[in-house]
Amino acid sequence: MAKNCIGLDIGSSSIKIVQVKEGKKGLTLLNFGIEPIPPQAIVDGAVMNQSAIVDAIRAVVTRLHVRQKDVALAVAGHSIIIKKIPIPPMPADQLDEQISWEADHHVPFDKEDVELDYEVLREDNGQGNMDVLLVAAKKDMVHDYAAVAREAQLNPLVVDIAAFAIQNAFEKSYGFPAGQAIALVNLGASISTLNIVQDGITMFTRDVTIGGNAFTEEIQKQLHVGYEEAEAYKVGSGALGGGDVVPQEVGRVLAQVSDLIAGELQRSIDFFLATTAGAEVERLYLGGGTAQVPQLRQAIERRAHLDVEVLDPFRNVFVDESRFDMPYLRAHSPIATVAFGLALRRPGDNL
Ligand SMILES: Nc1ncnc2c1ncn2[C@@H]1O[C@H](COP(=O)(O)OP(=O)(O)OP(=O)(O)O)[C@@H](O)[C@H]1O
Ligand SMILES: [Mg+2]
Repeated sequence: MAKNCIGLDIGSSSIKIVQVKEGKKGLTLLNFGIEPIPPQAIVDGAVMNQSAIVDAIRAVVTRLHVRQKDVALAVAGHSIIIKKIPIPPMPADQLDEQISWEADHHVPFDKEDVELDYEVLREDNGQGNMDVLLVAAKKDMVHDYAAVAREAQLNPLVVDIAAFAIQNAFEKSYGFPAGQAIALVNLGASISTLNIVQDGITMFTRDVTIGGNAFTEEIQKQLHVGYEEAEAYKVGSGALGGGDVVPQEVGRVLAQVSDLIAGELQRSIDFFLATTAGAEVERLYLGGGTAQVPQLRQAIERRAHLDVEVLDPFRNVFVDESRFDMPYLRAHSPIATVAFGLALRRPGDNL
């Protein structure tokens, strides 16, 4: 059995690496690490400072003594289009051509500029059609991410979409409840990814360019402090904070921005509910670094009337407690969601 790829999540605030081993008894964690990258190295999901990212990847790979080269990466943001489309039933050998034709209608980019992929979700959607998930990602972006990995002397074998990596992570560590739609959300520093999944099938995805940076920027603005200080206030104000004194206004700002993000999520979920007959969503799982802002969980629960749970991708993974700093791992596990989903991929997998 081929080894799993290393999950390499290149985020706009940091690189995350997860390596797991799949054995008879399940998954074992081999490696987990985070390495910050400088601000502006990635902007709107696009690589702006390749060497800074390469340096960060090399630093974490060296620190963790990772020797394996095969990696799975993820892309996210506005350069990706994911659409569920109904297509009349047809033999597999005609699908390629049909999908290419459908893409002309559904993808707002030049066909020459995108990588196209698709997956048949259901052979029969109950209305005489198949449901096909169409995925288009800008070639430039996919190539830039792969180039970064190659520059860091790694071998990018799989380029996934963040929304699907979260879905795979959830499936492995929680499993999908039968007959219920759930919302999976990854809140990073600059991008929020939503994926509504029912019985393992993607129903709706949306990436919104808002995330943890919005909190930091608002603290900077309202408290007249610099970026570093604002970031420290934000992180220090939660249950995991280092005990430093955080001005009272910080809580108020965090609540304001939480409400804004919760409103965005609610609009996306409402749109899904309004356009999908009989759909119901009761529970939302939150991953990514920004999942740690306690006000945000409350705001989503209040706004969207959903139960919110913070994701722990390592929930079903064996972790040798003598090899890992357990308090660090527990505190950072939501941040590892995308990287963990990527670490489940094997060479040669597609979507
Ligand atoms: N304990 C904490 N409390 C509040 N915010 C936190 C905490 N830990 C991390 N964050 C925030 O989480 C964000 C980083 O999360 P993550 O690593 O998931 O983002 P990223 O992958 O780098 O970014 P993106 O995917 O948006 O490009 C930062 O905005 C950081 O300030
Ligand atoms: Mg991220």
